[in-house]
Amino acid sequence: MKTKILTVLKESEGFVSGQDLCSVLGVSRTAVWKVIKQLEEEGYKIEAVRNKGYRLVEVADVMTKAEIGSRIHTKWMGKNLLYLPVTDSTNIQAKKQGEGGAPHGTLVVADCQNAGKGRRGRSWSSPSGTSIYMSFLLRPQIPPRCASMITLIAGMASCQAVREATGLKAQIKWPNDLVVRGKKICGILTEMSAEMEQIHYIVTGIGINVNQQEFPEEIRTKATSLKLETGRDLSRSEIIAGTMEWFEKYFEIFLETEDLSRLRKEYEGLLANMNQEVLVLDPKGEYKGICRGIQEDGELLVEQRDGRIGRVMSGEVSVRGIYGYV
Ligand code: BTN
Repeated sequence: MKTKILTVLKESEGFVSGQDLCSVLGVSRTAVWKVIKQLEEEGYKIEAVRNKGYRLVEVADVMTKAEIGSRIHTKWMGKNLLYLPVTDSTNIQAKKQGEGGAPHGTLVVADCQNAGKGRRGRSWSSPSGTSIYMSFLLRPQIPPRCASMITLIAGMASCQAVREATGLKAQIKWPNDLVVRGKKICGILTEMSAEMEQIHYIVTGIGINVNQQEFPEEIRTKATSLKLETGRDLSRSEIIAGTMEWFEKYFEIFLETEDLSRLRKEYEGLLANMNQEVLVLDPKGEYKGICRGIQEDGELLVEQRDGRIGRVMSGEVSVRGIYGYV
């Protein structure tokens, strides 16, 4: 009911009468009033005027199940939503959902993680109140070798959502990060449960630095937040919902061909490394080259000095920009 009241308030220009809310939702005036009070406690500013009703004055960075739910306008992505104020890791929780039979598209969001996971066994610092920690569960009927492409699609979706919400020119640092002006704002971690031929489920976790005011000295030159880059507070729920909408759209295009052939050009348009010099940290030997985009299966194409095009598989090597973090 909270999500519905919130949606009605958001969609109406002026005041909505208490009576209208009661009849739309089929509940009593007292029930409506109780929900309005709860919303105020969560941080919404709601004006209440006798004989006029209620009006939503301001939505700051409120992150609740109702707020996120009221913004997600998808067919299946993020429709089953689990919101946890505090958890160990949304990836762990989404995997539990996977084991427990939760539907394709299930989204887990937390305000704070106390065991946030980064790639390569690293931890992901996850204090409350400022960042996005979200993981979604997918049950695609695709071969396990296609799973790494999901990370690239998640990168495109979150990049577009960040661009829309902030106006910043966020870019993808292949394969797992988003950057703004050469500094990291987002990391993506995809995990999979599968057999040789069949995927049980995939969990993709996304962490985005949204409203942090500062970073520890040791990562200040490498990491930034959307607030530091725009100078204003941003709504985490808006970015989460935007990511869900873009992801659903891209994922359906991906499923038509089970590769990135129809998304490749758009991906390359968002790619920070495109036509830039990169250093490929291949365990068999490092080499420098110019990034020439991606293959249909998501591999990075790197033109070497002798003109040969090398293909870099995600997960196999990491790619560093020669100048700065990108
Ligand atoms: C990286 O850049 O190393 C990837 C970081 C991924 C962090 C996100 S936050 C939400 C989800 N839950 C986790 O424990 N990790 C991912």
